[in-house]
Amino acid sequence: MIMRGGRAAAGGRSIHPYTDRVVGSSLIVAPSILAADFARLGEEARAVEGSADWLHVDVMDNHFVPNLTIGLPVVEHLLKATTLPFDTHLMIEAPDRWALGYAEAGSYNVSFHVEAAADPVGLAKNLRAAGSKAGLAIDRDTPIEPYLEILPHFDTLLIMTIKAGFGGQKFMPELLDKVRTARRHLASGHLELRIEVDGGIAEDTIEAAAEAGADAFVAGTAVYAADDPADAVRRLRRRAEAVVAGG
Ligand code: DX5
Ligand code: ZN
Repeated sequence: MIMRGGRAAAGGRSIHPYTDRVVGSSLIVAPSILAADFARLGEEARAVEGSADWLHVDVMDNHFVPNLTIGLPVVEHLLKATTLPFDTHLMIEAPDRWALGYAEAGSYNVSFHVEAAADPVGLAKNLRAAGSKAGLAIDRDTPIEPYLEILPHFDTLLIMTIKAGFGGQKFMPELLDKVRTARRHLASGHLELRIEVDGGIAEDTIEAAAEAGADAFVAGTAVYAADDPADAVRRLRRRAEAVVAGG
């Protein structure tokens, strides 16, 4: 898989398009701070700096989802505490109004939910103009077909593999059908876009997600409930890489 901005390097390895680090594959592992210790967010982020590709930051507003997490002021401070690129996942109402602030603050990617956006394409253009990647997020009960045609406006497609709102839920394998549909669509249209899965990703589920065609993996509990979060990231990556290498 070729990522926009990616470069080939010696030995079949690639150079990460954002961090310039040489990585073993083009897969992305993004630990979610939702499962981290919120009193020590900076340390928790730095604990995975050497192993993770992105830091997944879940913003919830108690309206789009029942849960409430952090907002822009915390994200702005956390950005200064780590070198990791931020994969900001907005589970909020009215992203048309609020999402740009997260791009302007310096997020690498900003994903908003299509269920909440009034003008997804317009917002994607504004996010890109503000310097971030644009991500389209699809919740559990939303079909993907109506949105395939707007994918050229996006850099990432986040497919929930649970119902958005809480960490620690059970992975729903039936939602991988959306990943397969999206992967087929991208292949037929020669579109370059990350397909990211979020929810219940762990050592016993990541392979199925990779087989379905995901190439970016969010993991909260599987990383931050582990004794060694950095090692948990490496183990997840190895499992997903084995699928890609074998396929
Ligand atoms: C939930 C969030 C997820 C969450 C995943 O709505 O979007 O990013 O952190 O947590 P786990 O990996 O524990 O399912
Ligand atoms: Zn998330």
